[in-house]
Amino acid sequence: MAKVKILIVDDNVANVELLEAYLLSADYRVVKAFDGQEGIDQAYKENPDLIFLDIMMPKLDGYEVCKRLKTDEKMRFIPIVMITALSEMDAKIKGLDVGADDFLSKPFNKLEMMARVRSLLRIKNLHNDLDSSENIIFTLALALEAKDPYTAGHSERVASLARSLAKEVGLPEDMQNKIHKAGILHDIGKIGISESILNKNTTLNGDEYGEVINHPSIGANICEPLKSLLDIIPMVRYHHERFDGSGHPDGLIGENTPLGARIISIADAFDAMTSARPYREAIEKGKAINIMTSEAEMGQWDPKLLSAFIKMMRRSD
Ligand SMILES: [Fe+2]
Repeated sequence: MAKVKILIVDDNVANVELLEAYLLSADYRVVKAFDGQEGIDQAYKENPDLIFLDIMMPKLDGYEVCKRLKTDEKMRFIPIVMITALSEMDAKIKGLDVGADDFLSKPFNKLEMMARVRSLLRIKNLHNDLDSSENIIFTLALALEAKDPYTAGHSERVASLARSLAKEVGLPEDMQNKIHKAGILHDIGKIGISESILNKNTTLNGDEYGEVINHPSIGANICEPLKSLLDIIPMVRYHHERFDGSGHPDGLIGENTPLGARIISIADAFDAMTSARPYREAIEKGKAINIMTSEAEMGQWDPKLLSAFIKMMRRSD
């Protein structure tokens, strides 16, 4: 097994050497950086399992480094231990605010430090496992649609359109990220529907239609066991609801459908219309917008979201 890699970021060379000696004696691999910017560069280059981070440093201080790493989806599971002087209560509060996982006081106590390293690495491993179960579901969603030339790329396009719409209406970045994930996963429930129905080039009969409209609930059930997808599940389940209550599975009306699901439904309908299907050609973008505008007049779409969507699409033309 590859050795655990720990990054030390501190402009005080004596501190770095002392920590390094402790860590090497416990058979960890050590990489070093001597200012905040170098710390960030090394974190991206080396992808360490844990970071020791000093606070007062030239260029970028430790708070800024911590904040940047913790707001990056790819880096935020790397535990960060901030190095503080014994009595610095303010430093700890500020450190917690920027997402630090733990603190180590100077002068270092070797036993205490090693115990913290072990416990943080255990947590990191749990996150790694979680990440890989999440990855399996995402891979499955993309593999599923790639089989079918008519839907290849659909989920990614819906995800990116939905994220842009979320941004357009001023939702915060973590919500934009969740909506993007839900966009990728929204049709994963189609895995439970037979291909002969999905690829049929004539109108579906009643039984077949009944099977197709189950896919949002099946999708929500697939994602259910993953706690990390908790906020995403309603967006999957309700992406075929319509503002006037004419959708499925539950016929939710208006804002009873979660905002994320309303956003995905617009992106989904637009991408479906503007892509070819076994039973029809792709509809040109301007025409799709006209169709959705008249559907909104009849109550099918959240009017505010749809007008934000149209504004955004016109700008990108
Ligand atoms: Fe769908």
